[in-house]
Amino acid sequence: MNLKKLDNFKGINLLDIANEYGTPVYVYNLDKVKENYQKLFNSIPYENKKILFAMKSNFNVDILKTLRYLKCGIDAVSTEEIAYALDLGFKSEDILFTGIGISNEDIKYCISRGIVPNVGSIDLLERISKNHPGINISIRINPDFGHGHHDHVITGGPHSKFGIYESYLEEVKRITEKYKANVIGVHFHIGSGILDFEPYIRGIKKALDISRIFKTIEFVDIGGGIGIPYRENDNNFDLEKFGESISKLMDEFSKAEGRNVKLLLEPGRFLVAESGVLLAKVVEIKHTPLYKFAIVNTGFNHLARPVMYGSYHEIINISKIDSKEFEEIVVAGNLCESGDIFTRNEEGIEPRRIQKVEYGDILGIFDAGAYGYSMASHYNLKKFPKEVVVKDGYHRLSEKAYLKYVL
Ligand code: LLP
Repeated sequence: MNLKKLDNFKGINLLDIANEYGTPVYVYNLDKVKENYQKLFNSIPYENKKILFAMKSNFNVDILKTLRYLKCGIDAVSTEEIAYALDLGFKSEDILFTGIGISNEDIKYCISRGIVPNVGSIDLLERISKNHPGINISIRINPDFGHGHHDHVITGGPHSKFGIYESYLEEVKRITEKYKANVIGVHFHIGSGILDFEPYIRGIKKALDISRIFKTIEFVDIGGGIGIPYRENDNNFDLEKFGESISKLMDEFSKAEGRNVKLLLEPGRFLVAESGVLLAKVVEIKHTPLYKFAIVNTGFNHLARPVMYGSYHEIINISKIDSKEFEEIVVAGNLCESGDIFTRNEEGIEPRRIQKVEYGDILGIFDAGAYGYSMASHYNLKKFPKEVVVKDGYHRLSEKAYLKYVL
């Protein structure tokens, strides 16, 4: 068990929050979001850059406002995300629309709001260029390789539905020349949960090669995907080397080409995962010949990552932080499905050594700030968890401002 995860909530009494607001509750430390944003931004010496937050990882209104205040933009994947971002005051020039399965209506909406579409297929490219001659677009390429913590989140390479393959670049040229569309950006996103910076170097080299062909390119977007160490022995992504290497490539390109191309990044997980913890109460304890189960008042309807990818999330018994009594337990959710287990890997149950659990204890499921609430559902007709935000030591309930965009 890795008590270090508590450091992400230094000075915050999680037990008080669970008691005051009830469980299950997501708690987000906004100061941690700010810290990670600045860490990433400052790790890149290249000046002409912008970070676009991948809203799909967390659409909590206070997280979004925190990031907007820091001058972050938005990577949007739906017209709903665009509408929400604009209403929150993000400027259209700071939003890039990178959806998949994009209709002509979606594109009309995007263009009417002054947002650049990032185009990931020849079909879409042809429809946009034909219907909107002279338009500015970005192209999403598939650089023929991908990376990520699980097959489901690898978005580059031959099995992926994303991006335009390099072998189709001639088509891109033909279509954009025919309809006078301007390719102002080149983008790749190879996957999610990447702990090694080398794939970015491979990707950026390809993107810069394309920028040599399309002289109208104003920005290179290297996507999201930067991972975090969920497990104690996971590597830390080497931000320093990453920042230096990509800056060097960007500088060399700018010098050689005599144009200052902007660098865009689209992190989701890196900015918000560590800022979030899901607090739940143990509501049933059950012994079976094989295991001791602690069943909590939440499930994969609130945090789907363990069941969906076998993902590891640190679990700490917040009610017994100082206890020296440990035991092997299986933390299970309260949904009517066998797979609803938090302490699992891809194959199935993986018991965890945590502080001895009793009925009523509050468990913290850590690193839940990315792809936690944003992937939640009402399965079993359960309510969504509350969301509490903490800033400068003060906590308050966060409004569910996104609801009007989805109902
Ligand atoms: N840009 C694009 C085009 C994306 O598709 C994504 C994530 C990102 C940026 C942000 O990636 P990040 O920095 O967060 O890795 N539900 C999965 C992750 C799916 C990621 C989908 N795309 C999980 O819980 O691991």
